[in-house]
Amino acid sequence: MDRKDFLRTSCIACMGMAVGASILPGCAGAKYAKAAREENGLLVDLSTFTSGKRSAHRYVIVRDELLQYPVCIYDLGGGQYSALLMQCSHQGAELTVSGDQLTCSAHGSSFDKMGKATHKPASKPLRTFPVTVTRGKLFIDLRKQT
Ligand code: FES
Repeated sequence: MDRKDFLRTSCIACMGMAVGASILPGCAGAKYAKAAREENGLLVDLSTFTSGKRSAHRYVIVRDELLQYPVCIYDLGGGQYSALLMQCSHQGAELTVSGDQLTCSAHGSSFDKMGKATHKPASKPLRTFPVTVTRGKLFIDLRKQT
């Protein structure tokens, strides 16, 4: 392969990856959001779902030192949100998020964006928190974990 062929092949591969990343939102990097601590929970600015160069985020991840695991917040549409503790209900490993699914690398369980177990060995749902929208912010109530 000469230099010209190498450059042509490399450019085509790079363009393919760029196009693929733009049409597969599940492959986009996770969006981490800052949360302000309130007396009974966390406040997350709604603009975190729309900030950045990419189109709207379907979920954001919040970390807080009060919680051993991060919380994944999904925008369900219609002003509805779910907040899921990213701790596997099987044996407690931390989950990863991709698109509308949370997965556990320990034994392969997966969960949907409402926290329902969709792939065993986990059979119990994830712990969730109530979410309310107040003046452009989401309030995640940490007192009412289910
Ligand atoms: S700890 Fe997650 S599947 Fe076992």
